[in-house]
Amino acid sequence: MNLDEATLVAQTHAQEALSEPCAMVIMGAHGDLTKRKLIPALYALFVQGLLPKGFCVIGVSRTQLSHDDFRSSMKESIAEFASDLSLANWEDFAGALYYLPTNFDNPSGFSNLAAFLGDLDSKHGTASNHIFYLSTIPSLYEQIVLGLGASGLTREKTGLKSPWPRIVIEKPFGHDLESAKKLNAVLHQVFDESQIYRIDHYLGKETVQNIMVFRFANSIFEPLWNREHVDHVQITMAETLGVENRAAYYEEAGCLRDMLQNHMFSLLSLVAMEPPISLEPEEIRDEKAKLLKAVKPIDPERLNELAVRGQYGPGFISGQPVPGYRNEEKVNLKSNTETYAALKLFIDNWRWADVPFYVRSGKRLEKAVTEITMHFRRAPHRLFSHTGLTDDLSSNVLALRIQPDEGISLKFVTKFPGPTNQLRWLDMVFSYGTAFGRRSPSAYERLLVDCLSGDTTLFARTDVVEKSWELLAPVIEHWSLNKPNFPNYAAGSWGPVASDRLIQADDREWQC
Ligand code: BG6
Repeated sequence: MNLDEATLVAQTHAQEALSEPCAMVIMGAHGDLTKRKLIPALYALFVQGLLPKGFCVIGVSRTQLSHDDFRSSMKESIAEFASDLSLANWEDFAGALYYLPTNFDNPSGFSNLAAFLGDLDSKHGTASNHIFYLSTIPSLYEQIVLGLGASGLTREKTGLKSPWPRIVIEKPFGHDLESAKKLNAVLHQVFDESQIYRIDHYLGKETVQNIMVFRFANSIFEPLWNREHVDHVQITMAETLGVENRAAYYEEAGCLRDMLQNHMFSLLSLVAMEPPISLEPEEIRDEKAKLLKAVKPIDPERLNELAVRGQYGPGFISGQPVPGYRNEEKVNLKSNTETYAALKLFIDNWRWADVPFYVRSGKRLEKAVTEITMHFRRAPHRLFSHTGLTDDLSSNVLALRIQPDEGISLKFVTKFPGPTNQLRWLDMVFSYGTAFGRRSPSAYERLLVDCLSGDTTLFARTDVVEKSWELLAPVIEHWSLNKPNFPNYAAGSWGPVASDRLIQADDREWQC
């Protein structure tokens, strides 16, 4: 056994020891998320031996299906969405996969579920531990949570002792601060905060988890990670995809709610927070919450300088023509939903005072890339200014490349070989693909493993969710009161011109 295999075996044993038996109920099992992400992730965990011994899955939704219909549809999804996984172990996994058609409007739906779970608890030895995974449309969340509470399925509201209930919920966690508070209040009527797992799939990505390791397991970066050395920080989450088949949701959400309220604030807190005193979930979540509390409220009077929105018009992606957002299927022809958002933020604390954080996200942009770049201050004395190179806007840049080209790079100046002082900017590069040469688990694999073992570190806590809505409230209000001039960028471009102006006004440029 080589070192890599030995590590994997050790991890597997550690995981088996941590995860208690349980049944996972996927509410909304007929939907896209179950097919594309949840079942492939659960199957991948099963193949790696990372599911507990007494484990079963019950898919629940309104659609009438038999157990076998559900199993074969899930098998097809694995072939379609996780083709790297061999189906050799499928029959063993499918033996613990069930389906229950249920109407969430009806209390009898919940009592049927309770009875069915009771049978499966005995059959599979789940110790009556239950995970309820909400993968339905968000408008059903409150009704389902209250239904679960009334059915007695969540009787233990007291902490982690077995038998325990846990609830996993997918974003959106509300539509604004008020609705987020209402949803949290309903959740807290039935579940203890320690039993609530709000998923932000970005936190399950390997490259995102590596941010803390990079910062706090190395000694050489953290001394530079502050206003003394950092000129500014950029976070870009750019997609080439359009709205796909999610217009109904996206028309209501828009980019600010879809990407910034959750994923962007998660990245921001990881890159800017203080070191936690330990890896205990609450220690880490406290630091993230503290960071968000330090984000300077966006001044409504200065919104035009600090926030930019956009919507794509027709254009070209990879040389192919694509329609504008308003011409996408099921989108209102006069839609004012933003598909692009950029903000300039400040963090009012000792470490980051006056350092701008420029963040942006958009659909149908030129390139699909998610990265965080730390732009360091320029050298104080321009010794090589006669070469021309060091007079441009460039400086050392550390790029945490989240996707698709996962890795880290550091941009620095070097001398070009030759008899004169010719300088060049170069990148020192670490790439996951070449360094490890092994499959990275999907974000959902990691998050499901954590939920199974009761580790809430990577899940969003109530205060963080509410704080992020509070921070965005002035932007949401301003944008809802003022009509935009959409579309204002072509599909396949880098977004609206106003977004370039936002950063150029400070003599800086977007990194890509
Ligand atoms: C989701 C958003 O949370 O994240 C989508 O709802 C977006 O609109 C997606 O496309 C991006 O995730 P990833 O992992 O592909 O970067």
